[in-house]
Amino acid sequence: MKFLAVVFYFFLIVFQVSQAANTTQHHGGFVPGKYFDRVVIFVFENKYYSSVIKNRHFASLPKKYSGKLLTNYIATTHPSQPNYIALISGSTKGTNEDDESNIDRQSVVDLLEKKHISWKSYQENYPGGCNKNMDIGTYARKHNPFMSFTNISGNKKRCANIVNAKQLDRDIAHNKVPQYVFYTPNLNHDAHDKSTAYAGHWFSRFLAKRIRNPAFNKNTLFIVTFDEDDGGNDSKNHVYTALLGPNLNKKLSSAKDAGHYNHYSVLRTVEDNWDLGTLQTNDETANAFKL
Ligand SMILES: *[C@@H]1O[C@H](CO)[C@@H](O)[C@H](O)[C@H]1NC(C)=O
Ligand SMILES: *[C@@H]1O[C@H](CO)[C@@H](O)[C@H](O)[C@H]1NC(C)=O
Ligand SMILES: *[C@@H]1O[C@H](CO)[C@@H](O)[C@H](O)[C@H]1NC(C)=O
Repeated sequence: MKFLAVVFYFFLIVFQVSQAANTTQHHGGFVPGKYFDRVVIFVFENKYYSSVIKNRHFASLPKKYSGKLLTNYIATTHPSQPNYIALISGSTKGTNEDDESNIDRQSVVDLLEKKHISWKSYQENYPGGCNKNMDIGTYARKHNPFMSFTNISGNKKRCANIVNAKQLDRDIAHNKVPQYVFYTPNLNHDAHDKSTAYAGHWFSRFLAKRIRNPAFNKNTLFIVTFDEDDGGNDSKNHVYTALLGPNLNKKLSSAKDAGHYNHYSVLRTVEDNWDLGTLQTNDETANAFKL
């Protein structure tokens, strides 16, 4: 009997150890990337490159946080929503301007999940609970592209990764920030309803409070972009984009980069970093950022 009990406990321990290992690999664990172990994408709204680089807050970010300015980054289209859809799926197909879109196509989430890379969409003023409404106070679904993919919005577990942005501070406190972070400020903070100056002031304080925290910045690439320019008649859709890496293992190579980049480059950079393959959309031909 004693022998059987020993055998039983032996297998129980082996089982628990293997379960723990599995949990670490798939949930708590980090899948290391070639250039970074985490990406955090912030998207602002509707301002010309030329006006944003004149704002002292946006202008100073690259210098402050070991970053670089991309001087030749062109947004995809107008209005807002297709730009967001482009950022996470490499195409604007199926987008209904700024109206409700329900797209049956793959997105970056499909690629990330195949490799067990954690992700979340942090949305300011989003009420949670997979709420599918278009406009709720200062939250706008058109700026939350994940909700437009039917196999995210129609899947409870995936939809639970779309959270109110207040969750970010709890995730930092518990060292649980996922590896792919998409952060959408509300309509005031993102410069949609307020000025570039207002957004710049808000964002510089937001970052200053968090970006030195290893639970947020450890070997992390921060991408700060605008969905589109002001859309005036002659506009080229040239927008401000900065890459920040205050704690990247490998320092960014220059202060300015005039390479041809666009929203598809964001996706391609993420794909290359973790060897995800592509979605066979515009990510195929997009330039990844030089890191
Ligand atoms: C490990 O976890 C994955 C998903 O979380 C599951 O599909 C798989 O069966 C688990 N493997 C073992 C050996 O428990
Ligand atoms: C999501 O939908 C796309 C398009 O139908 C499909 O290719 C992909 O496999 C789906 N992903 C999951 C996890 O169901
Ligand atoms: C833009 O300018 C062109 C040429 O001056 C004009 O034909 C067109 O109507 C203008 N479009 C808008 C939206 O103002």
